[in-house]
Amino acid sequence: MSARRAAVEVHDLAPEQEDFRDAVWAGLGRPQKTLPCKFFYDAHGSALFDAICELPEYYPTRTELSILRDCADELAALAGPGRVLVEYGSGSSTKVRLLLDTLSPAAYMALDISREHLLAATAALAQERPALRVLAVCADYTGTLRLPEIPGSAARLGFFPGSTIGNFTPLEAARFLGAMHRQLGPGGALVIGVDLKKDPAILEAAYNDAAGVTAAFNLNLLERINRELDGDFDLAAFAHRAVYNPQAGRVEMHLESTAARHATVAGRRFAFAAGERIHTENSYKYTVAQFQQLATQTGFHPRRVWTDPAGLFSVHYLTRA
Ligand code: TRP
Repeated sequence: MSARRAAVEVHDLAPEQEDFRDAVWAGLGRPQKTLPCKFFYDAHGSALFDAICELPEYYPTRTELSILRDCADELAALAGPGRVLVEYGSGSSTKVRLLLDTLSPAAYMALDISREHLLAATAALAQERPALRVLAVCADYTGTLRLPEIPGSAARLGFFPGSTIGNFTPLEAARFLGAMHRQLGPGGALVIGVDLKKDPAILEAAYNDAAGVTAAFNLNLLERINRELDGDFDLAAFAHRAVYNPQAGRVEMHLESTAARHATVAGRRFAFAAGERIHTENSYKYTVAQFQQLATQTGFHPRRVWTDPAGLFSVHYLTRA
């Protein structure tokens, strides 16, 4: 372990390779083939996702960053100092930097499934801010999780940016909000970024960028299966598709097999018809009122919401009781 990493307390609860194999077998065995989106984020996928966040068409990241910059003081006043800041899906820990100065938390706990990316990001942050206590928890945060205790700190403050809540169905989102409600504990609060409903043309462009980075990100899931699960997907034979479904209020991401073929994964063979699609992700969009209703159902109280002037994105401050 390098000296740079020594400043970070690491808790390793990373999923096992068998979990990945079983999830892929189960998903490809369904009539509507599907793959869980959490497996997008191996080292290469995490790097591609960082590139997505900088694309001209992908407005959510830069819009959320501008909202956080504007609301950081108000947020710090609402939440108060000395909290344990718990980020769900911390990735490169970029957005949280906007909160750290004004918030003065007792500790920053970064939760992410992507181990190498998490360790690199938290090590860089710890080096940048030697006075900050930094914890790296490598875990699938959608599973059952007990957060490490930080004695003497104020109540936990959750941070769940990026509209990742939109990657759950509304039912799963309600369950996961309930899980965060429990994990954050008495006096806990949550800062959560939620992408808003808007012109479908803007939405579809955000998930079909001209440079093809989103397509590469989507296809990396098959590449990862080939690499880690002895798969034989022909990547050239699958195409990225992203469309907005207005009835469901979500962008749907698929990988479409352009011809009839088979693929083998860890010794199991799966048939694909020409034009058949693997559903790889949903990105649900909410109105402010719809999201507040969902939060209320799970026991949170919507205290404050900030949006950008164009009404593209929202950041909510929710409290327990
Ligand atoms: N939470 C992001 C979103 O829904 C994740 C994401 C962005 C994504 N672009 C993607 C997932 C492309 C899969 C494919 O916007």
